[in-house]
Amino acid sequence: METRTLEDWRALLEAEKTLDSGVYTKHDLLIVRGQGARVWDAEGNEYIDCVGGYGVANLGHGNPEVVEAVKRQAETLMAMPQTLPTPMRGEFYRTLTAILPPELNRVFPVNSGTEANEAALKFARAHTGRKKFVAAMRGFSGRTMGSLSVTWEPKYREPFLPLVEPVEFIPYNDVEALKRAVDEETAAVILEPVQGEGGVRPATPEFLRAAREITQEKGALLILDEIQTGMGRTGKRFAFEHFGIVPDILTLAKALGGGVPLGAAVMREEVARSMPKGGHGTTFGGTPWPWPQGWRPSVT
Ligand SMILES: Cc1ncc(COP(=O)(O)O)c(C=O)c1O
Repeated sequence: METRTLEDWRALLEAEKTLDSGVYTKHDLLIVRGQGARVWDAEGNEYIDCVGGYGVANLGHGNPEVVEAVKRQAETLMAMPQTLPTPMRGEFYRTLTAILPPELNRVFPVNSGTEANEAALKFARAHTGRKKFVAAMRGFSGRTMGSLSVTWEPKYREPFLPLVEPVEFIPYNDVEALKRAVDEETAAVILEPVQGEGGVRPATPEFLRAAREITQEKGALLILDEIQTGMGRTGKRFAFEHFGIVPDILTLAKALGGGVPLGAAVMREEVARSMPKGGHGTTFGGTPWPWPQGWRPSVT
């Protein structure tokens, strides 16, 4: 039972606004609860949530199956390092790989989208022994240094140069430019099947199929970033299924955890095997509690 008054809420809104780093422009609104596609502010006003947590809330706010699973897990076990196996992690891996093509059968669990891409870039370098990445103009991969390096938007990149190099940006959907850019130095091509931040621009089938062929031909990896398009956002579980191709590494986050911070880089076994023991890691990645036991992604 909520006992806080409107004054309490206002004080908390003020606290968030004044104590925050200031990186975000905050709205003058305190969202206090959500149910399905609706959210309510402190004054009881109801809104339709068209933001959807930037693609996190695929199953809606307060989805009873997710709530129940998270509650059950919180009571059972909330933290366990990755060196100590847990049944929940095993179930998560099994569930996720069962809804993917059989080639994508190794999981590196993380906590966010940018971490999934960081992992993918490192695995690609470890596997190929090469340095260069090819990415698309208007592409967005995240804000940490590695992911930012393959993110195109100059206003995100320029204040933080130098980033990871070399990276070559090509126009999205330009097969000829892709052919010219991918060479024997290329570790990976990283692409979104639909550019989200870049203006909701879908890839053409020719472009993604060419990306698959060219990378194979040149011994580079194809990383598909489905952080935004995965988990049913495009009418199939994963957008790459529209194109008849399978990437070498698939990155996921956002809707994957039903609202809890969860991401993954899912890859081919031979790619996973190239990373030396301890070559990458994350403390919270693989934490058992975010993975709703018994919960199956509801998109068929
Ligand atoms: C396609 C894509 N990749 C990566 C990211 C980064 O994910 P996160 O914000 O969880 O780090 C985003 C976030 O919007 C995204 O849309």
